[in-house]
Amino acid sequence: RRQRTFAMVKPDAVHRLGEIIDVIQSRGFEISRMKMVQLTRTQAAIFYREHEGRPFFEPLLDYVTSGTVIAMELITSDAVKRWRETLGPTDAELARQEAPDSVRAKFGQNKQLNAAHGSDSDISATREIEFFFPSSKVNGITGPE
Ligand code: CMP
Repeated sequence: RRQRTFAMVKPDAVHRLGEIIDVIQSRGFEISRMKMVQLTRTQAAIFYREHEGRPFFEPLLDYVTSGTVIAMELITSDAVKRWRETLGPTDAELARQEAPDSVRAKFGQNKQLNAAHGSDSDISATREIEFFFPSSKVNGITGPE
């Protein structure tokens, strides 16, 4: 079944966007939507609200607001699981041991600066896609998104 997921290239990896897009497309994902944005701290805190209270939460907000991010909607069969597999483990150093071909192994630095994000479930994917690509209507007409 075709499924959507949400991908975000984080500020430390935006300079390698071309190579990351090559990985995404070569693994069979369709990039159905994409945009470059600068998150505010409030927006980042909402996006990552499930991690509020964790010791890495404030550093995470510093990190994802340190530059622009690239938000993408990816489509393929089993997209949520397959994008998580393509990313590899959260910790880029562990990824280099366990999944050397993964995005985080290739483009990440450590457990915080890990190059990219992927939704952890279908429900998260829906929420995250709507957060970055809200449906908008003007006079009843949906404009370009
Ligand atoms: P991400 O997949 O975007 O989800 C939450 C992010 O928090 C994660 O990638 C990392 O950037 C960061 N993170 C998760 N765990 C840790 C940790 N133990 N120490 C530092 N940062 C972390």
